Amino acid sequence: MSKTITIRRPDDWHLHLRDGAMLRAVLPETARHFARAIIMPNLVPPVVTGTQADAYRDRIMDALPEGMAFEPLMTLYLTEETDPDDVAAAQASGLIRAVKLYPAGATTNSASGVKNFDKVRPVLERMAEIGLPLCMHGEVTDHSVDIFDREAVFIDRVLDPIRRATPGLRVVMEHVTTSDAVDYVKSAPEDLAATITTHHLIINRNHILVGGIKPHYYCLPVAKRESHRLALRAAATSGDARFFLGTDSAPHVDALKEHACGCAGCFTATNTMSILAHVFEEEGALDRLEGFTSLHGPGYYRLPVNEGRITLTRGTDPVDYPAKIDGGDGPVTVFDPGFPLYWKVTA
Ligand code: NCD
Ligand code: ZN
Repeated sequence: MSKTITIRRPDDWHLHLRDGAMLRAVLPETARHFARAIIMPNLVPPVVTGTQADAYRDRIMDALPEGMAFEPLMTLYLTEETDPDDVAAAQASGLIRAVKLYPAGATTNSASGVKNFDKVRPVLERMAEIGLPLCMHGEVTDHSVDIFDREAVFIDRVLDPIRRATPGLRVVMEHVTTSDAVDYVKSAPEDLAATITTHHLIINRNHILVGGIKPHYYCLPVAKRESHRLALRAAATSGDARFFLGTDSAPHVDALKEHACGCAGCFTATNTMSILAHVFEEEGALDRLEGFTSLHGPGYYRLPVNEGRITLTRGTDPVDYPAKIDGGDGPVTVFDPGFPLYWKVTA
């Protein structure tokens, strides 16, 4: 028997759209279901100034197919040279909604990120004053720290000290992958929130490594052991408004994923809403899907919720998603949850 739910149109609070041919290829995959998204600034070179964010926003709007509606929520890439006045002006004009902090070397295109956190103190203090959220890639880059421990160590060594030193700073801990992060967010006041990706609700580290290496499941932060995945599912489906969707959909052409040194990133834009409906139904929490995808994020970002609605229907036959989309410069593999999906956005 088919079943339907109607929810407010969702937003994606962490998305990689890239540029050029890839941007044109992946933007419709998001805009089909999502009204807005926080756009990651890790282009090459990164989007560092208000002027660059403005130009990138124009390129995104140019790439949007006729008849589709979508609002990119722009961010600036924080560097040790970022000017607090430029950040404040970009916020005041309504252009940017957040600043992104990548520890230098933590992930794809993060070479211009922050090495010495004291150097960005004036920017963080200004952001606290003006209420502008800081989106943090929460992993230390210290080579002596095991990759599976890098998020938990980041909380103690970087996140907690920054929050203590900058009272009032609003921080989104992005794409959390551990129960440590979930517990830390729950224990903090409401100026701290976290995004959770679609794929981290599905895969643990065994999916990446058992029975052969699966490059399309490799992303950063890397998926952790099963107990952490279960903690993420509990947080996402709990109804706690500090947790909301940030897909971190991060397209790379197959040639760069299926490689001796494969890029990090899972491309989930195409089937995210189907996968989430599946997860929330499994957890007996379909009534909380709307909070996670459409209400908690706007609440945190102090934006109105979307007026539009989408309807999801669970049919009796599995939904056919393409295994790959044409990324312009080559095929991009769509995230495979590893089980059939029956939920589909039908209106
Ligand atoms: C992202 C990318 O490809 O830009 N990759 C990823 O694995 N998530 C970078 C990031 O957000 O870490
Ligand atoms: Zn990302």
